[in-house]
Amino acid sequence: MSEHCKKAYITTPIYYVNDVPHIGHAYTTIIADTLAIYSRMAGLETFFLTGTDEHGQKIEQAAKQRGKTPKEYADEISGRFKALWDEFDISYDKFIRTTDEDHMLGVQKAFKTMYDKGDIYKDVYRGHYCISCEAFFTETQLVDGEFCPECGKPTQIVEEESYFFRLSKYQDKLLEWYRENEKCILPKTRRNEVIRFVEGGLEDLSITRTSFDWGVKLPPEIDDPKHVMYVWLDALMNYLTALGYGTDEKLLDFWPARVHLIGKDILRFHAVYWPAFLMSLDMPLPKHIAAHGWWTRNGEKMSKSKGNVINPKEVADAYGLENFRYFMLREVPFGGDGDFSQKALIDRINSDLGNDLGNLLNRLIGMSGKYSDGAVSSAKVAELYGEELSEVHDSLDKLEPLLFEMQLHHYLEELWKPLAIANKAIDRYQPWVMMKEGRVQEAYALLGLIANILAKVAVMLHPVMPKTTQTIARALGFTINQTAYEDLIKRKDLLSDFTIEKVPPLFPRIEDPLLQEVAPAAAEEKKPTEKKSEPIEGLITIDQFFQTKLAVGTVLEAEEVPKSKKLLRLQVDLGEEKPRQIVAGIKEWYSPADLMGTQVCVVANLKPAKLMGLLSEGMLLAAKDDEGLALIRPEAPKKAGTPIG
Ligand code: MSP
Repeated sequence: MSEHCKKAYITTPIYYVNDVPHIGHAYTTIIADTLAIYSRMAGLETFFLTGTDEHGQKIEQAAKQRGKTPKEYADEISGRFKALWDEFDISYDKFIRTTDEDHMLGVQKAFKTMYDKGDIYKDVYRGHYCISCEAFFTETQLVDGEFCPECGKPTQIVEEESYFFRLSKYQDKLLEWYRENEKCILPKTRRNEVIRFVEGGLEDLSITRTSFDWGVKLPPEIDDPKHVMYVWLDALMNYLTALGYGTDEKLLDFWPARVHLIGKDILRFHAVYWPAFLMSLDMPLPKHIAAHGWWTRNGEKMSKSKGNVINPKEVADAYGLENFRYFMLREVPFGGDGDFSQKALIDRINSDLGNDLGNLLNRLIGMSGKYSDGAVSSAKVAELYGEELSEVHDSLDKLEPLLFEMQLHHYLEELWKPLAIANKAIDRYQPWVMMKEGRVQEAYALLGLIANILAKVAVMLHPVMPKTTQTIARALGFTINQTAYEDLIKRKDLLSDFTIEKVPPLFPRIEDPLLQEVAPAAAEEKKPTEKKSEPIEGLITIDQFFQTKLAVGTVLEAEEVPKSKKLLRLQVDLGEEKPRQIVAGIKEWYSPADLMGTQVCVVANLKPAKLMGLLSEGMLLAAKDDEGLALIRPEAPKKAGTPIG
């Protein structure tokens, strides 16, 4: 980061309120949070923006399906995003909503400015529109002449009066910007992609709609009430209106953004439309637009219909929020796609965090307790272990540029080198031998070296794991803040002498997956470890319980099994490709008519068996006492296939 940049404006995309938060949203937000925490620690005036994108046909439709007004619906989902970020301690400075009054005024001001400049004109639009992506496509871009190239859903032909933005006018200026600013789009491969796209020619962009209502109206001066603004113009403008653009411009000196963090799917909007809008508004362009890749689960694309969407809260609750943050940033090279599997997460926790970092602290606590009653001193560290210390500083010096160029996985990789140096130094110099041989000063200095390495690593890891690193710092007698950063990192100072505080192990080892897997992806996952825990007085572990797959099923058909007094034959929908046949001994208590269309609870991974020559592919849960048998059913209707547990 260059010295003259004292401000850091960092943004996430604003999230559509047609979906609840998932791992993709958490990923962008956690990267942005990491950058924001770092910037503050490094003394930059930081403004971190996130929020929700609430207008457009997609939201209007989603609200209607739920019998709500768009605003009621947006309030609910926007609230869920905000609540999750609050629970995750995301350090945002503002949470913007595109339904905020001042945002809408700012968008109108921008529209008017571009209109007055002659960059907006009125015409008729005819094109193929994908509601889901809120984007138009040309005939040649469509798949099989009909389907959206981005999401695969059918497009509609839309013909309507529209205002257009003269995007074509900015083609050359955009190309000039990309070419002169090597790092304006990160990673660089994405920049090449954008350049190729723009070189292919830009058409003017339709920026208003008349086919629906739920959007920002045109400025009153233009007086054309049947138009609302295209959601992407509305949404992109949030980056400026959040700073008060068009209303109260007090914060506008945070502009231009240091970085807009986005996913690769919304690159075109950010790297082509947005800078063109900014050029039209005579505003400076952002420093970086950084596009990350896509998360899959156990190698599969996540989707609601597959039921394999990762709920970030569930993962954070099970594995620890900060471990999850570390995993996401370390696991995938920024820009590449990443795969979430519990195995990969557990490996990172046990190996990087547990073995390399946690054990080092435990060893230091153990040895200093034994050798010096917990007293640790930096005296003689530079004199006796100067070589190690300078290698550590070399690594630390490389970190900051990696962070601001979004190479977060490299950042963490590099940050682990000092830990390796520390672990190696213990093995090589063997302080227990030194103590035995009476080389006490050398042993103390070695402990001092380890403490300083841990302290410096904790400072630089702080943006990724804010609370865990404060615990490490507490053990080492200091607090992580701007002063600690200046002293330990910038000035390469060493810790003042301190008495170590014992802290409990930070990363207890995890043996087995803590969350139930979604079938059938579960098969890919590591098998439960061979080392089975001994049953204690008939108790089972949670993993043993989850070996039984229970799910809600909907009975599609029911009939008596001929010649059987006990059996009914059911066809039960478990949300799979075809219904399961289940033969159940419940005829005494239920007639087929009692069952049709009702829901039942099914043991779904039972080996199929034949009953009176009929294949039965599951078992119903029921409770039977002296008064008879009752099926166990969900208290409220649930989607067929919903796991129970
Ligand atoms: N509302 C627009 C953004 C407007 S910004 C001016 C939008 N919203 S979104 O909610 O659909 O997506 C927000 C972000 O989540 C995008 O950056 C997208 O890339 C990211 N992700 C959505 N699913 C994802 C994964 N499975 N993996 C990683 N990120 C993904 O687009």
